[in-house]
Amino acid sequence: MSVQSENEQIKFPELPLITEDILSKAQASAACQTAEYTLAERKALLDKITKLLKQQDAVLVAHYYTSDDLQQLAEESGGYVADSLEMARFGHDHPASTLIVAGVRFMGETAKILNPEKRVLMPDIEATCSLDLECPADLFTDFCDAHPEYTSVVYANTSAAVKARADWVVTSGIALPIIKHLAERNEKVLWAPDRHLGSYVQRETGVDMLIWPGSCVIHEQFKADGIRNLKKEYPNAQVLVHPESPAEVVDLADVVGSTTGLIKASLNPEVNEFIVATEAGIFYKMKQASPGKIFLEAPSGGLGGTCESCLRCPWMAMNGLRNLAEVLETGANEITIEEDIRLKALVPIRRMLDFAREQQIAVKDKGNA
Ligand code: 13P
Repeated sequence: MSVQSENEQIKFPELPLITEDILSKAQASAACQTAEYTLAERKALLDKITKLLKQQDAVLVAHYYTSDDLQQLAEESGGYVADSLEMARFGHDHPASTLIVAGVRFMGETAKILNPEKRVLMPDIEATCSLDLECPADLFTDFCDAHPEYTSVVYANTSAAVKARADWVVTSGIALPIIKHLAERNEKVLWAPDRHLGSYVQRETGVDMLIWPGSCVIHEQFKADGIRNLKKEYPNAQVLVHPESPAEVVDLADVVGSTTGLIKASLNPEVNEFIVATEAGIFYKMKQASPGKIFLEAPSGGLGGTCESCLRCPWMAMNGLRNLAEVLETGANEITIEEDIRLKALVPIRRMLDFAREQQIAVKDKGNA
């Protein structure tokens, strides 16, 4: 189903560029965290963090895209590894008074919006997301003001200030049912900021949609021709694709889904080989759940491509054991949000959570986008 997008006639604002400089800065910070540990250093850090988590009444909540070390530590210390929405929900339900959010800034902010009474700390508060950077609140607000007849729907990967101006917040796990719901009410949708996820839900629902032209620097790189070639070598492999990927990559998917959805798909007992188009951190969970299976990174460089580390988000990689220990020691990197922004941002987040509950959609376990 498709509806001619009005994007062609609409002038979108000039978005901030994700320059080499911005990426190099993130990569340099990440390199400090990913630098090899000696076994003794690793053990000392893990012991220190475990002790401090208890002392500080803190719990570690990590995203699927963080390092294996952080995911393992979150699980072993009584914390949680999940997608962004579930990270926030877990933080809300857990009795700890401090949440340590290992992920990127919008995840820490969402946790704070939902849990204002808790202290929310992040290993590196500068860890951001290209989608968030490409959707500054002032540009978004002006654009919404210019198109008041549209219902604004923003992806979770945005700042608290952008959420504060939105009618709905969605995650990749619930975008499709919410847009279907809006389509049934004949609402027109102003979607921001991920253009690939936006055009995926537009294709699936036929809704009239204005799509902000942002994208994720990682998913943007997956190449359909590379996947087709890999599929020749592994004809039985299923292709699992996150919907932040370009349309021609989504078209090759056996399963399109959120991180949780893709992990769930990898459990299929009838399939042993998978080509996976999303950030490489997801392989930790997939391999842990199905140790005998073959998981292949979807090619990101296309034919003859040489990209070797494109699949690691430079901002997610800024989270490490070293800065986690430091933050627990010093209490630095606390997330704060102005109360009026927080209260406004809470409205569309609650709307999503209420919708999920009413429709009995288990956002965590949704297998299809
Ligand atoms: P999920 O909600 O699917 O975990 O995606 C989060 C994200 O940031 C993808 O780039």
